Amino acid sequence: MYNSRISGLGFYVPENVVTNDDLSQVMDTNDEWIQERTGIQERRHVIKGTDTTTSMGVKAAKVAIERAGIDKDEIDFIVFATLSPDYYFPGPGVLVQRDLGIKTVGALDVRNQCSGFIYGVSVADQYIKSGMYKNILVIGSELHSHGLDMTTRGRGVSVIFGDGAGAAVLTREEDASKGILSSHLHSEGQHAEELSLIAPGMGKRWVTDIIEEQDPEDTSYFPYMNGQFVFKNAVVRFSEVIIEGLKVNGLSAEDIDMLIPHQANLRISQFVQKKFGLSNDQVYNNIMNYGNTTAASIPIALTEAWEAGKVNEGDLVVLAAFGSGFTWGSVIIKW
Ligand code: UT7
Repeated sequence: MYNSRISGLGFYVPENVVTNDDLSQVMDTNDEWIQERTGIQERRHVIKGTDTTTSMGVKAAKVAIERAGIDKDEIDFIVFATLSPDYYFPGPGVLVQRDLGIKTVGALDVRNQCSGFIYGVSVADQYIKSGMYKNILVIGSELHSHGLDMTTRGRGVSVIFGDGAGAAVLTREEDASKGILSSHLHSEGQHAEELSLIAPGMGKRWVTDIIEEQDPEDTSYFPYMNGQFVFKNAVVRFSEVIIEGLKVNGLSAEDIDMLIPHQANLRISQFVQKKFGLSNDQVYNNIMNYGNTTAASIPIALTEAWEAGKVNEGDLVVLAAFGSGFTWGSVIIKW
């Protein structure tokens, strides 16, 4: 039995910065509301025809692979987490295999939204622990901006989300006291529709229904979020799953050197920070600059924290996420 460790990290965000004031030009919103409720100051939106979810993932992956100090042909498996794939099918995992020119390794697509990166890391960790693979590329990437309702009708959702990608290479670690100590995954499908995008899907609305009806009031192909309900569940589940991860390893909140929470809302991160008695230096937030990038938020934040020298050898690093599904999870790492 082996452990896995994160041997390389990278991220990519599109250049195009969209401020809260920019959004107030196209919908009835304002900087004060957005900052007060979410902490977000600006986010990145892909300019149509430039990047895709896959291309952003590929750019982040190239940095991560280089920093891992391996050749792309040493990658044994690809895991791609996103809710905004380039195509309905096939998923972006195979597009990364193609675009990076990696040999014909397996490519898995993860559909766990905000928890996608946590699920992806957990899957990769199991493959490495079992000895099946040595180096696994895990990507979280999202292109939200093209699929949002950018009118006042959609303001409760569209001001929150941003585009970007993050990637990590997980590598076999022989020292059992180092690397990913444990991962913890949960779901509660009872609340599936509380944060969802139901069309196009075979369950309720397929593409032909939308085309036939041509209903200008149709919002089924835009994301829906019951914000307050999601918020209330998020603060409870974030805390629970962090405690679960610490307990399994015989650790407590005092042992945390760095918490990287999924960047859903700065108020949620602050709530969790306070609950665990962590200082500003022990929690990394960047939602101010990028908004909520769903599956990409943790790898972007982790890369930035690492680049800033805030994640160092021997540190206890905790990753935690909650989101649509509902799904939630945590990963406990000895760096
Ligand atoms: O990453 C996945 C997990 N996601 C989350 O964890 C998100 C959790 N939820 C949230 O972060 C918050 O619920 C939101 C930030 C989404 C919303 O904040 P809220 O305090 O729950 O606001 P609300 O939805 O209750 O709306 C309050 C008011 C409403 O107006 P009335 O009915 O009181 O007149 C909204 O219409 O604010 C209005 N509103 C806005 N006003 C200006 C909603 N969106 C906006 C907006 N600008 N963008």
